[in-house]
Amino acid sequence: MKELQGRVAVITGAGSGIGAALAHACSEAGMSVVLSDVEPAALDGVADEIRGRAGNVETLVLDVRDPAALEALAERAYAAYGACHLLVNNAGVIVFKPAAKLTLADWDWVLSVNLHGVIHGIAAFVPRMRAQPGEAHIVNTASINGLISMGGSGLAAYAASKFAVVAIAESLRVELERDQIGVSVVCPGGVATRITQSERNRPAEFRDGSEPKPLPDMAAAVDELGRSERILSPGEVAGRILDAVRANELYVITHPDYLDEVRERHRAIEAAFERAISRA
Ligand SMILES: NC(=O)c1ccc[n+]([C@@H]2O[C@H](COP(=O)([O-])OP(=O)(O)OC[C@H]3O[C@@H](n4cnc5c(N)ncnc54)[C@H](O)[C@@H]3O)[C@@H](O)[C@H]2O)c1
Repeated sequence: MKELQGRVAVITGAGSGIGAALAHACSEAGMSVVLSDVEPAALDGVADEIRGRAGNVETLVLDVRDPAALEALAERAYAAYGACHLLVNNAGVIVFKPAAKLTLADWDWVLSVNLHGVIHGIAAFVPRMRAQPGEAHIVNTASINGLISMGGSGLAAYAASKFAVVAIAESLRVELERDQIGVSVVCPGGVATRITQSERNRPAEFRDGSEPKPLPDMAAAVDELGRSERILSPGEVAGRILDAVRANELYVITHPDYLDEVRERHRAIEAAFERAISRA
């Protein structure tokens, strides 16, 4: 979708980090924005800043785990602005814990937000977006962990959710091409957001006292993972996402340093095929 001016963007997880930066970037590009988040105060803060610059903004406090809430968000967007040209399924949480120690509550929480949240966004918006005239675009926020799982790093549940989000984008992109709806999936490495304090949003029903301690920031998380990478600002990622929307790119890569690890994974898979071929 080349033209953003005058169009409508709907963003989940817009109260903080990448979603908030994207809300500002969309508004600055001349879009009306419909913002949602589970944290009312954070959401209001972003909306107030946009209104302060005379941007058009609507908000809805919701939990993406609830399909009816995403229906309500679609109703709000279409009632207010008559369209959704850019849907960003962005809300997400992370649990840092070794795979063998993940509780069923950890799995359920991560998958219900990161995977079912995206599914609920698609279910509510895609039929409406297909029925409206002109170009549109869907962005799913995955992660570099949607392309490499970083085995042994305590990211199994997170990576499982993000691999699924990448797969959904790959499928949707083919299916929606004829409707002039582009699809992108964003696969960042470290970004300076509040994701390391995701536990703040874990509902009581998913708590049993075994929750990991929040890390102060992304620098600490990257350190804990034993990595060294440039941590981007949410604004840098938001700018890259809008470029990808305009250019209709499927994979949005923000941290090129991960190329070797992605290649390593692909080579291991290819090697397994080679072994199968030589056995056949
Ligand atoms: N920060 C990173 O390094 C990084 C890297 C790769 C991918 N991501 C992805 O980026 C997306 C945005 O995260 P962020 O880094 O900006 O973190 P963040 O915590 O700053 O923002 C996430 C937002 O999602 C909201 N949210 C959480 N659970 C929700 C729910 N159930 N319903 C509705 N809203 C909910 C939070 O309140 C928060 O405002 C996530 O999908 C995350 O997995 C982040």
